[in-house]
Amino acid sequence: MIRRKYPHTRLRRTRVKGFIRDLIAQNKLTTDDLIQPIFIADQSEDKIEIPSMPGIHRHNLDSFYFEVESLINEGIKSVAIFPAIDASKKDEDGSHALDEGNIVCLALAGLSERFPEIIKIADVALDPYTDHGHDGLLIDGRVDNDKTVKLLQDQALLLAHSGADIIAPSDMMDGRVKAIRDTLESNKFFDTIILSYAAKYASSFYGPFRDAVGSAANLGKASKKTYQMNFANLDEALHEAGMDIEEGADIVMVKPGTAYLDVVHAIKSAFQVPTFVYQVSGEYSMLQLSIEKGWLDKDVMLESLMCCKRAGADAILTYAAKQIASELNS
Ligand code: PBG
Repeated sequence: MIRRKYPHTRLRRTRVKGFIRDLIAQNKLTTDDLIQPIFIADQSEDKIEIPSMPGIHRHNLDSFYFEVESLINEGIKSVAIFPAIDASKKDEDGSHALDEGNIVCLALAGLSERFPEIIKIADVALDPYTDHGHDGLLIDGRVDNDKTVKLLQDQALLLAHSGADIIAPSDMMDGRVKAIRDTLESNKFFDTIILSYAAKYASSFYGPFRDAVGSAANLGKASKKTYQMNFANLDEALHEAGMDIEEGADIVMVKPGTAYLDVVHAIKSAFQVPTFVYQVSGEYSMLQLSIEKGWLDKDVMLESLMCCKRAGADAILTYAAKQIASELNS
């Protein structure tokens, strides 16, 4: 029996040297755990820095391929692609999402050709393409669930055709995972993975992302609270994840990350399925800006990611993926 009594037990013994701390460490963070989100845009400049996301750029396709190559060299195995669409191509229905010549489809095909091994994650939602900035179809001022789901099925199929390994519905419509799974199966995309944003909260931490993809200006003061979850709730996250798994999700995700690790832990414990977490734009920017100002040590980024692992996340989408990978490799 363990005698939990001082001085037989001195918990500091296993903290005395770095090597012993490493030996007893329960969680490890490696490049296998990191997924890099990347912004792409139809632009003549190679890359343009996003003002509210220090160190993160919008890339044109040439620069995007170059960036992916450098990620592969750092050992990153997966990227999530997000487009900033030119205002002239946005409309009420987000119809450019279904255009096989859109920049996401081009990027997926281009990546498959150049780097067939990298895992390509493509977001399913209409917000980069709609002139109102919502994730779905607006009918009488309301985001219509079932009509949106039909479009999302088509969007998902197009993304699968274009070479996406993982389809990631981030729209939070009800029933979309089943609809997308049915579409993929009936079109013989048997191995296409669905990563559902199962518990996606209506969060102010998404602000910088909306700048990056240009949906912020359009969305204005409108909120996404009629489809994204209330951040006061936990049970609902389990309900969402359970339904998505039944509907055919292979991996579920919680978003945002750091402030929502109780949700990650609860979902992982309840379902024991692959569970990812998204350290979103606002979380990244808070930490990165503080690091750049010298207010926080740079190790805070790795700490925040390790905490995601400790909570039960199998992998993490983070804008810091490249930077952390290069630290881990040095
Ligand atoms: C849109 C989408 C959002 C993010 C990923 N997909 C923003 C939103 O819901 O408005 C946020 C990611 C981030 O903040 O890094 N469907």
